[in-house]
Amino acid sequence: MTDAIARYFTEDHRRCDRLLAACESTISAAAWDRADEAIAAYRDALVRHFAMEEEVLFPELEQANPGAAGPTGVMRMEHHQMRQLLDGLTEAVRVHDADTCFGDLETLHMISQQHNTKEEGILYPLADRSLQGGGEGLIERLDSI
Ligand SMILES: [Fe+2]
Ligand SMILES: [Fe+2]
Repeated sequence: MTDAIARYFTEDHRRCDRLLAACESTISAAAWDRADEAIAAYRDALVRHFAMEEEVLFPELEQANPGAAGPTGVMRMEHHQMRQLLDGLTEAVRVHDADTCFGDLETLHMISQQHNTKEEGILYPLADRSLQGGGEGLIERLDSI
């Protein structure tokens, strides 16, 4: 059995985590110009990650294993929540509102850690098992996103 899917997506979680940490450090330093750039880089990474899951991984998994539709539905809802938090954070950075930034960052951090733990512990291993070696082909398709 391959763990290609779990490895690929988990590495991308770590990349998003590093970009979120960069947002935190620029905001803590009140370096607003760099915070703008850091948020944009994090947003790009997160939007791409969600697209890889919502447009490719989840539909494939739901097709191979209809029982997965419950958990993927919860994941989509949490993506929506994180997108909204990111919108709030972007606006707070734009107006240099440090308090709102810290609140949004903390919530975003907490939700994304819990979300990623569920995906890494349950959903990705399920995808590696359900897609039976189709993981490599699926990952090739992700490069176009
Ligand atoms: Fe996700
Ligand atoms: Fe993910």
